[in-house]
Amino acid sequence: MPATVVVGCQWGDEGKGRIIDLLAEQADYIVRFQGGANAGHTLIDRHDRQVILHLIPSGILWPKKICVIGNGVVVNPAKLVEEINSLQQAGYLKDQSQLWISDSCHLVMPYHLILDGLEEEARGSDKIGTTLRGIGPAYMDKVARCGVRMADLIDEQRFLQRMTNILPSKQKLLKQLYNHAGIDEQKLIDEHLQYGEQLAAFVRQVPPLLNTAYASGKNLLFEGAQGCELDLDHGTYPYVTSTSTLAAAAIQGSGIGLKSIDRVLGVVKAYTTRVGGGPFVTEEHSEIGNQLVDKGKEFGATTGRKRRCGWLDTVQLRQALMLNGMDGIILTKLDVLSGFAKIPICVAYKKNGTTLEQMPTSITELAKVEPVYEELPGWDIIRDEIHTFEDLPKNARGFVRRIEELLEVPIVIASVGPKRENYLSHSGRPFSPFSGL
Ligand code: GDP
Ligand code: IMO
Ligand code: MG
Repeated sequence: MPATVVVGCQWGDEGKGRIIDLLAEQADYIVRFQGGANAGHTLIDRHDRQVILHLIPSGILWPKKICVIGNGVVVNPAKLVEEINSLQQAGYLKDQSQLWISDSCHLVMPYHLILDGLEEEARGSDKIGTTLRGIGPAYMDKVARCGVRMADLIDEQRFLQRMTNILPSKQKLLKQLYNHAGIDEQKLIDEHLQYGEQLAAFVRQVPPLLNTAYASGKNLLFEGAQGCELDLDHGTYPYVTSTSTLAAAAIQGSGIGLKSIDRVLGVVKAYTTRVGGGPFVTEEHSEIGNQLVDKGKEFGATTGRKRRCGWLDTVQLRQALMLNGMDGIILTKLDVLSGFAKIPICVAYKKNGTTLEQMPTSITELAKVEPVYEELPGWDIIRDEIHTFEDLPKNARGFVRRIEELLEVPIVIASVGPKRENYLSHSGRPFSPFSGL
């Protein structure tokens, strides 16, 4: 009956999706619990096709697993219908009972998308660099209690009543504050009533179903989106997303009981990337940064933006481990570091001659610190056919061991390529997230 939460430890795009796809084999339920279509989780299916998921959990390539969109996720119904259709066209999600959408999910509405863009423009040089997926405005409305939920969308009368209450103030906001032309209300209503019809079959009251599944011995896997430093409370505010991205959010965002979470695993990319604005201590502005972009194919799965790249930062990672209470780490993209003569790891920060062991909360302070690097020797290549840590080149083994020492947490899987089978474990068999580490 174990439940395991898997979250990103950096600024997102650590490879959470492909890891969930690997671990999902041993799960019965795979649950998203926060974020929205700002997430872009890339999987490679058994036909070598790239599948990018924004809202649907990354267990969907397994035919018998139930994928759940929990109440903490903000759902753009148009995007979700599009994602369902494209999965079905690719031969997945044939059985509708494979996807549950919580009736309590808040919706990302067309005015949220417009407002995301207008608010970004208004920030001028202080732009956050959002994904423009309407995430901030949708969560704002949830908190302000003027949001629309999935339960409203599938009930025509309720939806119309909700729109009558909400649309006038949105029109006023768009037109009077932003000088925008406003939204076509009839078009919005007609389209959304149609989405409601298309999605109704998937909508469920999730908490009783999930808690019963857990009590009856099923394996639950919770899939985080974004990463620790994009957390609304603990990340590099205001350059963050609008939800908690930590493991704790799995409880609030799904309705599972607090005591039901048995294990927390963190996904760590072997170097660091970030999309959008905000401080990034180990960022490489030199040719090295471009090499990481090229070798790691570091372009956003949601917006196509080039990701900012730099070396691994264990000061930042120690904060992520502390905030999440991590039991183990899954290290991804180790293959991308092959071919570098030296591989720096940031082990501390320095400011005005003083060594800092913690990440400062203030982003102005964070922007002033310098990374203190320890340099490890590199390795040439990681062969495709290896499946255990012991078979790694000596220096790659040393790199993995040094990270474990610095972070004081075991690395339970390392990935060495984007496909499901491109992973290493201690035994050579898929690591079980539902039994001992
Ligand atoms: P997520 O948002 O955390 O799920 O990560 P993304 O899917 O946005 O970005 C990770 C990218 O790295 C994707 O393009 C993956 O296909 C790719 N990837 C994941 N693991 C590995 C790996 O071990 N090696 C290589 N070379 N690519 C990987
Ligand atoms: P996955 O799940 C990387 C970043 C945006 C921006 C900030 C706020 O694929 O790891 P938002 O649209 O959420 O208001 O943008 O957060 N961001 C991500 N960066 N991966 C993601 O998701 C992200 N989701 C949001 O680039 O800096
Ligand atoms: Mg991503």
